[in-house]
Amino acid sequence: MYLEFLLIILKINELTKFKPNNVKVCIFEPNNNLEILNTQISIIGCGWLGLPLAKLLVENGFIIKGSTTSKAKLASLKQYHIQPYVITLNPSGITGPYVQFLAGSDTVIINIPPGLRKNPSKNHVAEVEHLIQAIEETQSIKNVLYISSTSVFKDTVDFPIITAETPPNATSDSAKQLIKIEQMLQASSSFNTTILRFGGLIGETRHPAKFLAGRTNISNPKAPINLIHKTDCLAIILSTLKNSLWNQTLNAAYPSHPNKKEYYTNYCKQNDLAVPHYSFSEESEGKIIDSSSLVQLLDYNFKETP
Ligand SMILES: NC(=O)c1ccc[n+]([C@@H]2O[C@H](COP(=O)([O-])OP(=O)(O)OC[C@H]3O[C@@H](n4cnc5c(N)ncnc54)[C@H](OP(=O)(O)O)[C@@H]3O)[C@@H](O)[C@H]2O)c1
Repeated sequence: MYLEFLLIILKINELTKFKPNNVKVCIFEPNNNLEILNTQISIIGCGWLGLPLAKLLVENGFIIKGSTTSKAKLASLKQYHIQPYVITLNPSGITGPYVQFLAGSDTVIINIPPGLRKNPSKNHVAEVEHLIQAIEETQSIKNVLYISSTSVFKDTVDFPIITAETPPNATSDSAKQLIKIEQMLQASSSFNTTILRFGGLIGETRHPAKFLAGRTNISNPKAPINLIHKTDCLAIILSTLKNSLWNQTLNAAYPSHPNKKEYYTNYCKQNDLAVPHYSFSEESEGKIIDSSSLVQLLDYNFKETP
C-alpha cells in the first residue's frame, strides 16, 4: 500500500516536471495562428512577384487586399481569395479606390518597380509620395514593407562587399529614385518601415541568361553575379512578416557570386542556349551583395541556387 502510494507520487512529479513545456506549446501555437488570421495586408503591385506573394500569404492565413492597374486581372486575383483593387499611382495622384484598399490593414507591401526603362522621364518618387500620404492619413497602418533593389549600390572595379550597413550610392536616375523613396519611407513617423533590397530576380519564367544568350560584346564579364530566386524572395518576405522584423534595411542575394562570364556560359550550355560573348576592352565593374545580416536576423537558409 505504501509502495503504491509512493509510485503515484513519483508519477505525479514526473508529469508536472514536463507540464510547463507542454503548456507552452499549446498556448503559443494557436495564438500565433490567431494573430495571423486577424492580420490584413494590402499589397500594392500584384505582378510577377506580388501575385505569388499574395497567394502565399493567403495560404498562410493572412487577409490580403491586392492591387493591379488592369481591370482584366481583377478576376484572377479574386480566384486566389485576394480582395482585388484597381489602383494606379501617378505623379499627379492616385486613381482608384485607394482609401478602401488601405482600410483595415496592419501592413502595406509596396511592390512596384520604378518603371524607368519603359518611361525614362517618369517621376516614380512623386507616385510613391502620394501613397505615403494616403498611408499616413489612415492613421492605422503600422508597417510598410518596401521591396527595393540592390541596384541602389554602385558597381565599381574593386567589387566592394555590400553589407546592410553600406550606404546606398548609385547614381543612375532609377537608383536615385529608389534611394529617395527608401528615405521618405524611413522618415515617416506614422509607421515602421522595413526595406528588403533584392538582387536580380529569377524564376521559372524569368532569367537574365535568356536575354544574354547568343549576344556579343557583353560588358563586365568579371563582375560577380547577385541573383535571387523567387522562392527565396517569397520565403524571406513571409519570414519578415511572421517575425515582425520592422525598422530594418536588408539586402538579399544568393550567397554565391561566380563571375558573370563563368556563370552565364555554364547556364547557357546546361540549358541549350547559345553562349554569350563578352567584351574585355574595359575593366569590369560590379559588387558583392552580402546577405548575412538578413540570414542572421531571420535564421534564414537560402533554398534555390540560381
Ligand atoms: N526585376 C528585378 O530583377 C528586381 C530586382 C530587385 C528588386 N525588384 C523589385 O521587385 C518588385 C517586384 O517586381 P516585379 O518584377 O514583380 O514587377 P512587375 O511584374 O512589373 O509587377 C509590378 C506590379 O505593380 C503594378 N504597378 C506598376 N506600376 C504601377 C503604378 N504606377 N501604380 C500602381 N501599380 C503599379 C503592376 O500592375 P499590373 O498588374 O497592372 O501590371 C504590377 O501588378 C519591385 O518592387 C521591384 O522594384 C526587382
